[in-house]
Amino acid sequence: MEKGRIYLNDDWVFGETGSASTEQVRLPHTTVITPFHYFDEDIYQKDATYERKLFAEETWKEKHVLLTVEGAAHQSQVFLNGQCIASHNCGYTAYSVDLAPYLTWGQENVLQIRVNSSEKLNQPPFGNVIDYMTYGGLYREVYLEIKPQGYINDVFVMTEKIERMGKIAKITWKCQIAFEENPGETHIKQFLVDDHGIHTILTPLKEENGQCSISYETKGIHPWHPNKPVLYELHTQAYRGEKLVDERVDRVGFRVIAFNKEGVFINEEKVKLRGLNRHQSFPYVGYAMPESMQKRDAEILKWELKVNAVRTSHYPQSHHFLDRCDELGLLVFTEIPGWQHMGDEEWKQQAVKNTEDMVLQYRNHPSIFLWGVRINESSDEDILYTETNKVAHVLDSTRPTSGVRFIQKSHLLEDVYAYNDFSHDGATAGCLHPKKVTTDMQKGYLISEFNGHMFPTKAFDCEDHRVEHMLRHARVVDAYYAQEGIAGGFGWCMFDYNTHKDFGSGDRICYHGVMDMFRNPKLAAHLYASQDDPGDDVVLEVSSSMDIGEHPACLMKDVYVLTNADRLKFYKNGQYIRTFDRKDSPFKHLPNGPILIDDFIGDLIEKGEGFSKRKANDIKKVLMAANKYGLSHLPIPILALAAKCILFYGMSMEDAVELYNKYVGNWGGEVTTYRFEAIKDGKVVRTVERTPVKAVQLEVTASHTHLLERDTYDVAAIRIRAISESGMQLPYYQGPLKLELTGDVELIGPDIITLAGGMGGTYIKTKGDTTGEAVLRITGQQTAPVEIRFTLN
Ligand code: GAL
Repeated sequence: MEKGRIYLNDDWVFGETGSASTEQVRLPHTTVITPFHYFDEDIYQKDATYERKLFAEETWKEKHVLLTVEGAAHQSQVFLNGQCIASHNCGYTAYSVDLAPYLTWGQENVLQIRVNSSEKLNQPPFGNVIDYMTYGGLYREVYLEIKPQGYINDVFVMTEKIERMGKIAKITWKCQIAFEENPGETHIKQFLVDDHGIHTILTPLKEENGQCSISYETKGIHPWHPNKPVLYELHTQAYRGEKLVDERVDRVGFRVIAFNKEGVFINEEKVKLRGLNRHQSFPYVGYAMPESMQKRDAEILKWELKVNAVRTSHYPQSHHFLDRCDELGLLVFTEIPGWQHMGDEEWKQQAVKNTEDMVLQYRNHPSIFLWGVRINESSDEDILYTETNKVAHVLDSTRPTSGVRFIQKSHLLEDVYAYNDFSHDGATAGCLHPKKVTTDMQKGYLISEFNGHMFPTKAFDCEDHRVEHMLRHARVVDAYYAQEGIAGGFGWCMFDYNTHKDFGSGDRICYHGVMDMFRNPKLAAHLYASQDDPGDDVVLEVSSSMDIGEHPACLMKDVYVLTNADRLKFYKNGQYIRTFDRKDSPFKHLPNGPILIDDFIGDLIEKGEGFSKRKANDIKKVLMAANKYGLSHLPIPILALAAKCILFYGMSMEDAVELYNKYVGNWGGEVTTYRFEAIKDGKVVRTVERTPVKAVQLEVTASHTHLLERDTYDVAAIRIRAISESGMQLPYYQGPLKLELTGDVELIGPDIITLAGGMGGTYIKTKGDTTGEAVLRITGQQTAPVEIRFTLN
C-alpha cells in the first residue's frame, strides 16, 4: 500500500466493448479464466471495457487528480464521461492521466478503460510468433493520487560513489527532483528514514539547476548489497515560503554497479550472478495476480531456489515483484517488451517509448542492475538501438545497458553483451567462451538464457530424463562459474508457462521450468537451492527413487545427491556403506556440485560373503559397472576384471547374477531401505530415505494462511504433493483430488484436479472485506483427507 494512493481496484463492470454486461469484477483482472493447458490463445484476446463510477470530491478542485493504470494488456484508452482522454500502447508499463480537467465536481463521473488484448496490434511484442501467452485485461492495479499545483513529479536517487571508512560508508549521491510544472520559488527538505524509524536529516552539498538536482555526501547510511539489502524511505518536502506544499516518499537503496571484462561488481565487490528467467504468468489467471503472489515469486527465487539474480523476461514486471527483490537483495535484469520480431517505424518508436517508460518508472528500484534495451533475440538494428541506449543512459547514468542476443558478434552498442547460450546439448561444453561471442572482450559479458527448449522436462517425465535436466543445468552453471570473465548466467527458466501453438509440447505449455506452473520444484530446482550457504536450511535431495524397474534394462546408472552439507553418509538397511564429500562431485566449479553416488555396496560384499577385501572390491567394481553400462556395454577394463573374477576367483555367471540381485538390484530379498545423511559441522542435519512405497499421502502447503484484503483481494497459493511415508515425492501419482472450500473465499481454477509429476496446486482468493475463517479440504481415493485453515480479514 503506497501512501497517498486511492486504489480503484473494486466495483468495475467488465464486458466486451459494446455489450450490455453487468459482470462485476475486481483488479487485477484477466479477460478470461483459462484452462490449465490445451487451450487456444484466441480465448483471451478481446476488445473489452471496464467501467466504474468515480465521485469527484469538491476538495479536489484546483488540484490534479492523477489516474494511474499500472498494467493494461495491451492497448488501452481512458474515457471520462464518454470522452477519450488518454491512450497507451504497451501492456507492460504504466501510464497516468490527469482527470481534473474532465471531472464534474461533487458528482459521480463515469470512468471507462477500454482494453484491447489482440495479439495483432502493431506494437511490441507483436508482429510474429511469441513463446509465451500475452493474456489480456486490466491485470495490475489502478489508483488515484490527488496532487497540488506544481507537485513533485519525480524523485530519482543516483549513487555516485561508495567509500568504505572502516565500518562506516561514505556515500556520495545525487537526487534529481522534477516538478509537474515550473513551481516557482521552492525550497526542498529531504530526510531518510530507516527500518527502525530513525531519521537522518540530509544536508545538501550543492544544488544544481535551481532546486532540481541536489548532491549529498552521507556518512552512517548503509549501502544496499545483495547480501545486505538496506533500504531507506526518502522523504522529500517542497516548501513555498514557510508553507509545505507537497511531500512524497520514495523507497531507495544506495549502491554502485560496474561491469567489466572481469564480471559485475556491486559496491566494488564481485558478484557471480546465479539467476533464472521469470515470466509473470500463473495458471488460470494469466498475468492477473495481486501483490502477495507477485512477492511470493521473489521469495521463492531467494529463499527456495537460492539464486541471487532474476531476469524479468521479456518485459518490465509488477512493482510488487520488484519491491520484494529490493527487500530481499535479488539482482534484477529487466528489459523492454519484445520477442525476436522487429516491426515498422511506428512499432520501433513504441520500443523507444517503452525504454523511456521502463527507465522512468523503475529506476528507483535498487535491485535493478541492468537495463535490457534491445528486443529479446532480435537482429542488429543500429539506429533503433543507438536510440534506446541513449534514452536509457540519459535517463539513468547509474546503470549499464545490455540487450539479449542469440547472435554472436552482433554490434555491441551496449555496455554488456548478454547472450542466450544454448550451445550445451548434453554432450558439448556447458557454455561458449566469450571470445567466440562478443565483439569487445573489455566489456561485461553474461549468459542471459540457457537450456530451456534444448531439454524440455515435465515433472512426470521418467527419472533418467529428470536427472539429465538437472545435470544440464549443473553443466552450464559449472561452466560459467569456471570462467572468471563471465558475470554469470540466467537459466531458462524459473517455472513452466503457457505458450502459443508454435512452442511447447502441444498442450500449450513450455516445460522449460526448474519448477512446474504452481512453483513446485523439479529436480533441477534443488541444484540451484543447494548452491547457497546452508545456514540452518541444509538441502538434501536424492535424484533417484532407487527403483531399478524405472530404468531401461533396469540400469539405475548414476545417482546424484544435491546438498550443501559438508559430507554425506550413505547406508543400506542400516548398514554403513560409505561417506561421500565434495570431491565425489564431477562438477568442480559449482559452489556445491552434485555428489555422484557410484557405490551402493561399500564393504557389504566383504562382510556379507566373507570374501577378501581385494576380491570383494573387484566384484563390486564389476557389479557397479554392470548397473551403469549394462552387460553388453561393459568397458574393457571392467571386462578384464570380470575375466579375473571367473579365472582367479572361480566365479560363474550365476554367482554374479545372484550377487547383483542381492547387492545392487535388491530383487526378491528383503525390503531395501537406503538412507542418506547430510552431515554439517560433524552432526547429522538432514536425512532422506528411499524404500519401497506402500501408501500415498498428501502434503499440502499454503503460501500464507492469513488472508488480508488491502488495496484489493488477496490470493494464497496452495502447493500439493503426493509423497510416500518416508516423504519421497511420487512422480507418477495421478489420482484425482477433490477440492472443497467453505468460508467467504473462492477457488481459482477447477475443484477437481489431478497431480502431474506428483505435484500440483490451486489458488484461494478472497471475496471482499470479510472476516472469519475458511477451510480447504482436499480428498482423494487413496489419500487421507487434508484440511487447511485460513483466517480472513
Ligand atoms: C529463447 C527465448 C525464450 C524462450 C527460450 C526457450 O530463445 O528468448 O523466450 O523461448 O528460448 O528455450
